[in-house]
Amino acid sequence: MSLTFFPINKQMYDYAVCHRSHHSDPVMVELRKETLALGEIAEMAIPPEEESFLSIIVAASRVEKAIEVGTFTGIGAMAIARALPVTGKLLCCEINPQWISIASKYWAKAGLESKIEVRIGPALETIKYLKEDRFFDFAFIDADKQNYENYYELLLPRIRPNGLIVFDNMLWKGKVVCPDITDKDSVVLSRLNEKLKDDPRVESVLIPMADGVVIARKKG
Ligand SMILES: C[S@@+](CC[C@H](N)C(=O)[O-])C[C@H]1O[C@@H](n2cnc3c(N)ncnc32)[C@H](O)[C@@H]1O
Repeated sequence: MSLTFFPINKQMYDYAVCHRSHHSDPVMVELRKETLALGEIAEMAIPPEEESFLSIIVAASRVEKAIEVGTFTGIGAMAIARALPVTGKLLCCEINPQWISIASKYWAKAGLESKIEVRIGPALETIKYLKEDRFFDFAFIDADKQNYENYYELLLPRIRPNGLIVFDNMLWKGKVVCPDITDKDSVVLSRLNEKLKDDPRVESVLIPMADGVVIARKKG
């Protein structure tokens, strides 16, 4: 059998993180610094390689309308918004206004504020009550794991054919592959991985990047 994957070490990871566009974007560097200063909770932020991945797929698929579910301090949102055309819009759903007050400062510094709309509150409610004619080319799901499937089912009808849904944390630090780990979040994410691979409405792949990123393309 050929080698299909290989583990990487910290040196290789750091090398990869430095060898990408935007690696020294001054506003992003500053935002990451303020996020890191929050302490342990900073772990919620997406890592640098995922930030670049989001920018590239958003630009390459010519996304105009995007939605992010779970924004935290706005790193992913900044990566998505900077890749949108000037007329593009990103709707950010976040329950905690404290995070948005940090995010907004940096979005303004990066000149992205006109592209970003924020709805504070439980994302399920925000999405349920969106206007019927609100459609998206791209969704990034990165909030409470228990509702991942609900977000998927609510958003899929609002995604245009060939549009993309990206789910973060789908390896859940490896817990999805451990049958003896039965906490609710692990079970929910593991079930969603099973569902997505056979869901005839989408074509999907679980990319072993960061904490596991699923990208699902809505079939036309
Ligand atoms: C993993 S973090 C998001 C990280 C972010 N996408 C980034 O790019 O760094 C998850 C976020 O979801 C938010 N959240 C949790 N439950 C939520 C809910 N029911 N509705 C909206 N946001 C929620 C949390 O406050 C937190 O900021």
